[in-house]
Amino acid sequence: MNNSIWAEIQLPSFAKLQQDLNTDVLIIGGGLAGILCAHQLHREGVNYALIEADTIMHGVSRNTTAKITTQHGLVYHKLLRRFGPEKARLYWQANEDALTRYRKMCRSVACDFEVRDNYIYATADTDSPMQEWQALHQLGIPAEFHSRLPLPLPVSGAVSFPNQAQFHPLKFAAGIAKELRIYEHTAVKAFDGTAVITDSGKIFPEKIIVATHFPIFNKHGLYFLKLYQRRSYVLALKNAPQPEGMYLDGATDGLSFRSYGDVLLLGGGGHRTGKQGGCWAELEAFAKKHYPQSREVCRWATQDCITLDGIPYIGQYSANTPNLFVATGFNKWGMTASMVSAHLLADLVQGRSNPYAELFSPSRTILRPQLAVNAVESTFNLLTPTKPRCPHLGCALKWNPAERSWDCPCHGSRFTEGGKLLENPATGDLKNSSAQIHERRSQ
Ligand code: FES
Repeated sequence: MNNSIWAEIQLPSFAKLQQDLNTDVLIIGGGLAGILCAHQLHREGVNYALIEADTIMHGVSRNTTAKITTQHGLVYHKLLRRFGPEKARLYWQANEDALTRYRKMCRSVACDFEVRDNYIYATADTDSPMQEWQALHQLGIPAEFHSRLPLPLPVSGAVSFPNQAQFHPLKFAAGIAKELRIYEHTAVKAFDGTAVITDSGKIFPEKIIVATHFPIFNKHGLYFLKLYQRRSYVLALKNAPQPEGMYLDGATDGLSFRSYGDVLLLGGGGHRTGKQGGCWAELEAFAKKHYPQSREVCRWATQDCITLDGIPYIGQYSANTPNLFVATGFNKWGMTASMVSAHLLADLVQGRSNPYAELFSPSRTILRPQLAVNAVESTFNLLTPTKPRCPHLGCALKWNPAERSWDCPCHGSRFTEGGKLLENPATGDLKNSSAQIHERRSQ
């Protein structure tokens, strides 16, 4: 089992739900998005409860590189082209609000918060960084263009945002979660429209926020078509140069750099879950070549939900579920998206309007090219006759030799070698896993 560099922190622990419960708002999922939602509702005096199937910050939130920035890749020229200047700027403003809120909260939470410039670079495509910089200029967003960076790789251009930030996500969560009404080890078994049935009691909420990384209710919202998942990998290295800023390749599978103390966090090796990719081997080769004196301290991998149009889904779960809400599809930018979710959803569950509601609405059009890619991938893997099969919607699982897990290319569920659930949207272990795995191995 690989653990992230953040994992040594002792988080507060919370009791399991022991009885039936009435609450105005139920939050399902104790990652950063769920905890920030609970924190905001707590501050506003709303009657809420948060349930988590495992322990808080157990999932992807502990595997992030924890960059807090409004620069989400080379995205603004695409947003400008796709949605026009008003929405592109609104996207930046929503994330800028989130960054400002982190700056304020982190003054009173000891979480190694550090101000850093953020850089997105390209190694081959000379047009994209310049196009991006021009789009940012048009939108009035402060940014600088660079033709060189202090990284050991050739850069064709880069764009930076000043005064962004990095922090320790678990120290932050530990600092804000203590006072919250949280039940750990409380898993959802079913939802009948009015009651959420858990393994230790029924909950009767007026409103529900689903913050489970990949939404757990399949019946509404078509999330199995609207989302897919990607894995990416991190090596934490000592005796490697410490970057001043935070750096990321604008290409989907490129490298990422940030420091934490005297450790370099080198990220990359990404691929769609269930597919082949560079994994840790790519990062090991890079470190061996460019940082031959470095020593690995730890390694880990993470998983991100990717939307059809590059904007998260935050809002009403579907057009016909007025009391069910969701926060998902953070496209690898979970720190700012979690904060956006907390404030947007706090407004929506209390019937208030919010200037970003339409932009992030999960009910916006799904007619995007990625929809066809997702549909083809799902159809292909549903028709692939191999075992084991994924208990979510039945796709053929693929063996991931780097992590020794069974991964689903359709929506990204993952299971240990022995069939235990690692990542949703599946909600249970592989059935008859040893028989299935035996059959797969004999093929
Ligand atoms: Fe949906 Fe596997 S995750 S079928």
